[in-house]
Amino acid sequence: MSDPSPAWGAVRTFMRSRCGVMLAEDQHYLLDARLGPLARDFSFPSVEAFVATACSASAEDRLRRAVVDAMTTHETTFFRDRPFWKMLEDRIIPGLRAAGRTSLRVWSAACSTGQEPYSLAMLLEELWPEGAAGTQIVATDISEIALEKAREGAFTQLEVNRGLGASRLIRYFEQQPLTYRIKDSLRRRIEWRVDNLLSPLPGPKDCDLVMCRNVLIYFDENDRQQVQRRLRASVGAKGYLGFGATEMSTHGEPLGGGWYQPPAK
Ligand SMILES: C[S@@+](CC[C@H](N)C(=O)[O-])C[C@H]1O[C@@H](n2cnc3c(N)ncnc32)[C@H](O)[C@@H]1O
Repeated sequence: MSDPSPAWGAVRTFMRSRCGVMLAEDQHYLLDARLGPLARDFSFPSVEAFVATACSASAEDRLRRAVVDAMTTHETTFFRDRPFWKMLEDRIIPGLRAAGRTSLRVWSAACSTGQEPYSLAMLLEELWPEGAAGTQIVATDISEIALEKAREGAFTQLEVNRGLGASRLIRYFEQQPLTYRIKDSLRRRIEWRVDNLLSPLPGPKDCDLVMCRNVLIYFDENDRQQVQRRLRASVGAKGYLGFGATEMSTHGEPLGGGWYQPPAK
């Protein structure tokens, strides 16, 4: 294995402190692959020179944001992990309706390019149209590039093929020359915000559903615990927390599919 460069060490330290993401020493090939194009875009003579500036304490914010955008992993699909959505459909949404909710407050944290909150908006529209109309979905991510794409709501053929059937494609999307764009009626239901999961500020309050999937795997135990406390503080009375299939909650009764019911506060 070749020696990881000091530049790679600086990127790892930066990503860890800025957003909690732990990059491995042996992932140093990502230095050229992901930051090489940025070094050229910002007219730096080398990737090392770019890192020395962009990952320094006095870096301009636009450079730091560019590093975060490039180094975070935005992999996502519509209706990712079927058991998660099945549990929501079969138990959680009917349970919230039975408990007297007339609409929901939802936080989709680390939503990447939006497939997760859009999936939820579609599911609600199908299961409970009256509730869907009044439901507030706040979708957040640290990556501004990912959020820009999410807000635009335009997806390639390959992206819609990942998780959507023909009937949902026809019902919720408008075909454009190169993409499928989510119809405005659904797009308007989601509010997009930049948010760092490690922020000391609280997230949205009194949510019935808080989802945070496939991101805590990149964090160390300490940050994971801190983020879980913050997420849990956003769950309202009798609300639910949803994690990725391989992520565990330390606070709550597991219901299956990655869903938990935190104990009453
Ligand atoms: C692999 S995607 C998961 C997307 C979606 N939740 C899913 O499960 O399909 C991880 C997302 O976490 C975001 N992320 C990483 N660190 C973050 C942080 N500290 N605060 C907020 N979002 C973060 C990344 O920008 C990326 O969009």
